[in-house]
Amino acid sequence: VDQRFADDLDERLAYEGERTGPPTDFPELPDIPLGRYTDPHFYEAEISGVFKKSWLFVGHASEIADEGSFLTVDLPFAPVVVVRDQEGTIRAFLNACRHRGAPVTRDSQGVAKHLVCQFHSWSYDLTGKLVGVPDSRDFVNLKPSERGLAPVRCELWGGFVFINLDPSARPLLEDISSLHDRYAGLMTSDFIPVAKRSWDVKSNWKIVTEAFLEVYHLRTVHKNSGGPMADTRRAVMQIHPNGHSSMFLPYRAAGSGGELLDVFFAPDVGQYPDPHGIYRTANPSFLLYPNLVTPTDITGFFILVFWPLEVGRTRLDMHWYGMPWGDGPRPQGWDLKLAAWDMLMNEDVVNLEPIQRSVTAAAHGGIPLNYQERRIWQFHAELDKQIGPNRIPEDLRIPDLLANLIEK
Ligand code: FES
Ligand SMILES: [Fe+2]
Repeated sequence: VDQRFADDLDERLAYEGERTGPPTDFPELPDIPLGRYTDPHFYEAEISGVFKKSWLFVGHASEIADEGSFLTVDLPFAPVVVVRDQEGTIRAFLNACRHRGAPVTRDSQGVAKHLVCQFHSWSYDLTGKLVGVPDSRDFVNLKPSERGLAPVRCELWGGFVFINLDPSARPLLEDISSLHDRYAGLMTSDFIPVAKRSWDVKSNWKIVTEAFLEVYHLRTVHKNSGGPMADTRRAVMQIHPNGHSSMFLPYRAAGSGGELLDVFFAPDVGQYPDPHGIYRTANPSFLLYPNLVTPTDITGFFILVFWPLEVGRTRLDMHWYGMPWGDGPRPQGWDLKLAAWDMLMNEDVVNLEPIQRSVTAAAHGGIPLNYQERRIWQFHAELDKQIGPNRIPEDLRIPDLLANLIEK
């Protein structure tokens, strides 16, 4: 985190702990309309206006360390393959053969010398060039140089790999400069992949995302697990440009509920540098808009990604990255830590499908958000800004009421 934030963190924590209400200039927020979670047209607008134009997480460079190693992103709106070429450059392509569109790999991860189509074996080199066409004598005037795999924008933040389907999107580091200024020191550490999990949740992607944008739920949902270890009333939240936002959640000391921290910070797991000494006292978490939340801690990055599959269905992917442990088996601390997070995640997931059923039945009319939930408001406001309010029916719009809270 940057120095200026570290300098006034104590002041901000104290302010949040002592306030008797929201700041006086915090507006009354209208209800979030339930149709935003169920309307198929709004969903289509999110896919075309947001997901096809935003930086989306793929994985970490250490997962494709060798020449020819690849990762695929298997999205209904964008099949993508990310590969390391002979020169070491990481490239992304649509995973769609230029003949009749079959995938050039069906694996989620692997190593290949060529990407070979799974239908009639057209083959492409690691730079996407079409280099082999069986029975090429039967094509009239086929120009291989015009039939390479379609490239996709691919940029890195530290070792973390992102793609963007919009060729004219602003560069990743410009888009996320607010997060880069605060967290670059962490993101550039040498990480290795530790574990992955995935949930198929029958609820809208925003319902899943929102469950990780506030800590108001901790004392209820995680009352016997993570709840006691955090002082949610002192949580410091910030809203940044371009939909991004962040939060610092202070921990409680062992003896007053912070016992689980011994599991989270297991000594054999390794820790990244903490120059300001604050990651041991507070949990940093940010939303990299639109669909990545990382409630991380000093042992590594715990990355949650929310992929819309249908209007009422989401794939929740969890990726853990940690410090390298050298030769030998994974330190045992990781087993305990991952088991603790599995428990926390399952506690979160259990509410999400019933919530979708409620919004579908319009059982509760609309959603009144409080000051602690303001990152959710901003997340919605940014969606509207990106989609363009004119494309959204008037009764589903979210006005940009918190623009005065934005911190660069
Ligand atoms: S679809 Fe790829 S070779 Fe035919
Ligand atoms: Fe939670």
